[in-house]
Amino acid sequence: MNRPRKRPEELRSHRWYSARDLRAFGHRSRTAQMGYTRADYAGKPVIAIINTWSEINPCHTHFRQRAEEVKRGVWQAGGFPVEMPAISLSEPFQKPTTMLYRNLLAMETEELLRSYPADGCVLMGGCDKTTPGLIMGALSMNLPAIFMPAGPMLRGHWRGDTLGSGSDVWKYWAELRAGNIGEDDWAEIEQGIARSPGHCMTMGTASTMTSAVEAMGLALPGAASIPAADARHAQMASLTGRRAVEMVWEDLKPREIVTAAAVDNAVTTVLALGGSTNAIVHLIAIARRAGVALDLDRFDALARRTPVLANVRPSGKYLMEDFFYAGGLRALLAQLGDLIDGSALTANGRSLGENVAGTPVFGDDVIRSRANPLVAHDGLAVLRGNLAPDGAVIKPPAMEPRLLRHAGPAVVFANYNDMAARIDDPDLAVTADSVIVLQNAGPQGAPGMPEWGQLPIPKKLLAAGVRDMVRISDARMSGTSYGACVLHVAPESHVGGPLALVRDGDLIELDVPGRRLELQVDAAELVRRRAAWTPPPPHYGRGFGALYLRHIRQANEGCDFDFLEDGPPTPEPEIH
Ligand code: FES
Repeated sequence: MNRPRKRPEELRSHRWYSARDLRAFGHRSRTAQMGYTRADYAGKPVIAIINTWSEINPCHTHFRQRAEEVKRGVWQAGGFPVEMPAISLSEPFQKPTTMLYRNLLAMETEELLRSYPADGCVLMGGCDKTTPGLIMGALSMNLPAIFMPAGPMLRGHWRGDTLGSGSDVWKYWAELRAGNIGEDDWAEIEQGIARSPGHCMTMGTASTMTSAVEAMGLALPGAASIPAADARHAQMASLTGRRAVEMVWEDLKPREIVTAAAVDNAVTTVLALGGSTNAIVHLIAIARRAGVALDLDRFDALARRTPVLANVRPSGKYLMEDFFYAGGLRALLAQLGDLIDGSALTANGRSLGENVAGTPVFGDDVIRSRANPLVAHDGLAVLRGNLAPDGAVIKPPAMEPRLLRHAGPAVVFANYNDMAARIDDPDLAVTADSVIVLQNAGPQGAPGMPEWGQLPIPKKLLAAGVRDMVRISDARMSGTSYGACVLHVAPESHVGGPLALVRDGDLIELDVPGRRLELQVDAAELVRRRAAWTPPPPHYGRGFGALYLRHIRQANEGCDFDFLEDGPPTPEPEIH
């Protein structure tokens, strides 16, 4: 790729370091205070390494070391690396949900890049919301940026069996509740399910989003599939640092990479991976930051033509380590052929098609061909109807096929605590044909739209052998989860969406092939219920929570803050 190269005096950081004024003296003297001489940084691109490492994030434990390897690459290529920590968003620990803070990481990323002398950046993330948060912020700032994914952890292991993050937690939790395994078994599973650094190694949100970002062109080819513990992951970190420096000289910015074609490539990749439903919310938010219109209908249209080729849990059988050995994302993209726009530009300056051409598959049961897909199409489906006028989503490959068309009476829970208190009540009027409904679990209602969407199956039904039933909420669901779970119902119940009007016993009809979700209650009765409905009080009166509630958009719009998506360009800071 031949692009005009920037001159050193055109670097953004030049304004901080090279002027003959009092301010630049301050910046240079304080850089000297940190042990650097002018030769270390003068005339060199400053590469901000935005690192979401923290001691509370198990998926990023290796990022301290990886940041050093990124720096090695930056130094080798003639840049000046500056590591900047950003909020970590640890999926297992942060409450009520990391989703409450995704936009905070996006804001932090954007403002770190804006307020400091960064010429370009390496974004280090992987645990669920860190990937979209970093990318959203970098797109809004639009300095040369490249993503360094955390990489999946190694396979889990228990008594000769392979364990997958999340998916096997839900599976064995159900078996424990059904009395099929004991507490000792459960304690052994606890020890064996997460046994190395790295993010969840099923096709959860982390694997889905890091792969989507690579397919979108914002990471080096192959980066997203390498297990975190593999030496090649460290090599990739160094290569990523090197490339960041070159991207600055070439002035290759993320908004040049994230075009409508690149977004379609990312969506198609998510579908071919049998990826997480969470990717829908995140990709809409990312696309909108890049000025690309992406909506639920585009997901549905691409789902109708895209086969699921990755045989990875929860939709399939294997884990990310197997996917890597089978050829990784590049091999899958090569299999997709003309379903991908190979002309899309990527971070290495080449097209996506050039990056993946001829990549072989080494395990054709793990990465399927289009002639032998895991699922022919409909990796995700968008539902509409009087219960979800602005849309809802479901993941058909992760549900029992008998439920694709189903009608049943609603069993309604007003909120999570109500559900937790009553779901296992032996007297609860519920059968395998019931439709379980959870209200007030959306962006405003929960708040933060947590991953509550895989609503538990009542204990008495589990004991009777039921493992799937139709469940509906305005929540999200972990990408590692499975089941006939209708998610992201919009508008959410907390703001008066029709989900708020459902009562026990109402007939609900789900028709996935027909893409419908209907509440079979007559219109006059719904009008009466709406007139009697009062909005619940807001959860927060101050602080970040209050800011969130004031500005959060609905799920079908990507749950970004209105003021981050809209508005005039933010000016560069004055330096004086
Ligand atoms: Fe970090 Fe699953 S907990 S990716």
